[in-house]
Amino acid sequence: MGQRTRISVAFWPIPCRFTQKPMGDQMHILIVGAAGMIGQKLAQTLVDNGELNQQKITEITLFDVVEPTAPSGFDGLAHVLTGDLANPQIAHELVAGKPDVVFHLAAVVSGEAEQDFEKGYRINMGGTQNLLEAIRHTGFCPRFLFTSSLAVFGTPLPDVIPDNFNATPQSSYGTQKAIGELLVNDYSRKGFIDGISLRLPTIVIRPGKPNKAASSFFSSILREPLNGKPATLPVPKRTRHWFASPQMAVGFLIHAASLNTAELGWRTLNLPGVSASIAEMIRALQRVAGREAADLITETPDPLIEAITGSWPKAFHPARAKALGFEAENGFTQIIQSYLDAEGNTK
Ligand SMILES: NC(=O)c1ccc[n+]([C@@H]2O[C@H](COP(=O)([O-])OP(=O)(O)OC[C@H]3O[C@@H](n4cnc5c(N)ncnc54)[C@H](O)[C@@H]3O)[C@@H](O)[C@H]2O)c1
Repeated sequence: MGQRTRISVAFWPIPCRFTQKPMGDQMHILIVGAAGMIGQKLAQTLVDNGELNQQKITEITLFDVVEPTAPSGFDGLAHVLTGDLANPQIAHELVAGKPDVVFHLAAVVSGEAEQDFEKGYRINMGGTQNLLEAIRHTGFCPRFLFTSSLAVFGTPLPDVIPDNFNATPQSSYGTQKAIGELLVNDYSRKGFIDGISLRLPTIVIRPGKPNKAASSFFSSILREPLNGKPATLPVPKRTRHWFASPQMAVGFLIHAASLNTAELGWRTLNLPGVSASIAEMIRALQRVAGREAADLITETPDPLIEAITGSWPKAFHPARAKALGFEAENGFTQIIQSYLDAEGNTK
């Protein structure tokens, strides 16, 4: 009788081959998508904090397809790099320095991913896998934070979404984010990364100009009036959604970078946020900036945006994330205040 070959297939998690560095050792952080709204704030906050997970940040690599701005006041080694993550070679070069923590924020947003099918898959799915493959081939196991989205959820949705609710995306962007979550989970299970996907609430108030995200108006109806400018509301005031501030998004990422993942199980988290209707948002605007600010909003219905946002999650019960110490704002007034504290009132 011939000898049988024993095939062993591991379906259980393989511990990360990365061993935590001793306290006081050097910490290298890579931010992919560092020129974006959250990326810039994250980089500056990390530099201001000076440490992550009680380790001094000594090296920071900022990467984006658009040149990122180096944070001010950093006394360590800063690398500012530009390139396209959809190029596998670039992904390899990015991780050659074996960063301890990788924040993967690079993406094309929902509206653009829907309009340009190829670009969305090339960057949001292909770019994510390029980064993960580059890490696997380089052979180290960083903490890897992936910014996912509520767009992974599709109708029909309960009014309050529990942690175990299935992801059934109904957009290309949501599908690409759901694929990213699955990859992060599987690469973590195999011990190639120590990853967590964070399903960020919609982040308001976004500074600057409107972008191509379908959610862009949620920021403009507050930001423009706060700065004395008119704004257009394309959806009914009863529209309800789940929000957090940019500062909270940075806080979520930093908290996730320091979590003990030993008992985490499934590597995707719904996050805390504020559930608010447009009417409640406008009331909060009025409380903070007065009636004249609220009067700058004009209702101009847009059936397409109404159809898209009407199918979005209204509220969550993020029990797992809360038990892990994630916290959000306690109401919409706090979100508006957080914008004014960070950006000032340019009126
Ligand atoms: N802002 C939100 O409300 C929100 C909500 C849920 C999830 N997210 C996710 O969080 C992440 C950050 O969000 P944000 O609001 O800062 O977005 P952003 O659009 O401001 O930043 C994304 C960055 O990715 C970069 N990028 C795009 N294609 C790239 C490529 N091929 N190679 C390298 N870089 C590339 C862009 O230039 C941009 O600077 C994104 O992945 C987004 O999908 C954001």
